[in-house]
Amino acid sequence: MDSRGINKNFADARVDALAVVVFKKDDPKKGLLKELDVLSGGEIASVLASEEFKGESGETYALRYKADKGKAGRILLVGAGEKDKYKVSDVAAAAGAAARKVRDYNLKKFAIAPRSDGDAVEVAEAAAQGVITSQFELDKYKTKDKNDKKLGGFTVFIDGAKPADLKKGLERGTAIGESMNFTRDLANEPPNILTPTEMANRAKKMAKEVGLKCEVLSEAQMKKLGMNSLLSVSLGSEQPAQLIVLRYTPKRNTAKKGEMLGLVGKGVMFDTGGISLKPGEGMDAMKYDMSGGASVIGAMRAIALLQPTVPVIGVVGCVENMPDGKASRPSDVVTAMNGKTVEILNTDAEGRLVLADAVHYTEKQGATEIIDLATLTGAVIIALGNRNTGIMGNNQDLVDRIIATGKDVGEGFWQLPLEGYESEVKSDIADVKNIGTKRRAGTIAGGLFIQEFVDKAKWAHLDIAGTAWADSPKAHQAKGPTGVAIRTLVRLVENSQ
Ligand code: BES
Ligand code: ZN
Ligand code: ZN
Repeated sequence: MDSRGINKNFADARVDALAVVVFKKDDPKKGLLKELDVLSGGEIASVLASEEFKGESGETYALRYKADKGKAGRILLVGAGEKDKYKVSDVAAAAGAAARKVRDYNLKKFAIAPRSDGDAVEVAEAAAQGVITSQFELDKYKTKDKNDKKLGGFTVFIDGAKPADLKKGLERGTAIGESMNFTRDLANEPPNILTPTEMANRAKKMAKEVGLKCEVLSEAQMKKLGMNSLLSVSLGSEQPAQLIVLRYTPKRNTAKKGEMLGLVGKGVMFDTGGISLKPGEGMDAMKYDMSGGASVIGAMRAIALLQPTVPVIGVVGCVENMPDGKASRPSDVVTAMNGKTVEILNTDAEGRLVLADAVHYTEKQGATEIIDLATLTGAVIIALGNRNTGIMGNNQDLVDRIIATGKDVGEGFWQLPLEGYESEVKSDIADVKNIGTKRRAGTIAGGLFIQEFVDKAKWAHLDIAGTAWADSPKAHQAKGPTGVAIRTLVRLVENSQ
């Protein structure tokens, strides 16, 4: 999609519509709104006075006016809530809501005035990311009723901004937005198509395109390394497990000597629960049980494009959890790569079994700081719903940095404790068991289990079961996969350079 940045003469932009952010109780007689109000012959003031449009975030209102040839002729008011609460991260949703409306009207090009006083690079970045992620749809496999309207391009207006800043922001937002859509496409794929092998193939292809190193470990290689915890999950599947390893090495490394970040993802391509079979109703949702892995792959893609000066390794354990004569049973005991014995009491708590070996492997590869991402527990949805990702860890500084970075980019993380709950995962007959006691503190039990496989690294665990998939469409985003945590992880990496 074409993108452009402009720093003056918004109203003269050669586009089909001018989208302007409007706040609650905004004053149409001041600044840019005044200019547009004059253009529209007082229509904006009249719409605001009538309260047909209140400026709530997600709200839009289109109006037409007589324009010179080639100029817009349409204004789209885009609500953004209260002005003093408006942050740079809100620009993405506003730009996305505008872009979806413009596409609905079957228009091709629009210009947006985000009206944020934030840093120009960040504002342009957020606008571009918001427009690009707003265009994602779930219609890949439709042969009829496909969305055939296509947005052609967008212009971002930031009054007085340096052209270089606009350009940089648009490039960054495009890289991040397209990487989010890459992740969302993976999460949306049906599991008969996106098998562990296919996931590895997509990662390899992407790695080649953006210049990442990609290695895929086969079952035989994992067996050799002793990854019996991960491998136990796919015993019941016809599909062989795959461990995807993506490496980003900066041209100039400014990390402290020996420091490396590891991103680790749960790639359960489909989770039937295994022998501890899930109920049939809603089981189809378990195609998105690979969203953690998909976000890791998307984050690595964005990192490769943005070229930060610190090294990052991305590791995704891909398996399919199926019931079968060869599948593992509740009460089986396996020995993980780090030597710990695991009593599998529920084969549906499989994500942690995958992460146990994937996290240990990542630390062995030299990661000194590890963040794992997983749709790990239904319990996190009960606790936090779909607003916040559950976060836990062994290092408060890392957890705090992730939460703070999330606030900057508009992603919510809420911490749950681990300390004091350690006895939850003690097994009667082995070192650890893969579930907690009854249904209590289910998300914490998941985090505690993974912690058993971290040695010296700083580590944080993100339970994205509630945030990786949106059950309903929003003004700025289709329903379905969200590409959660990519923005936060990319910014975190950049902040550490
Ligand atoms: N993939 C699920 C968690 C999940 C549930 C993700 C709903 C998204 C939506 C995970 O593998 C699982 O089944 N967890 C069990 C753990 C339990 C057996 C301790 C759960 O949450 O019920
Ligand atoms: Zn499960
Ligand atoms: Zn699962």
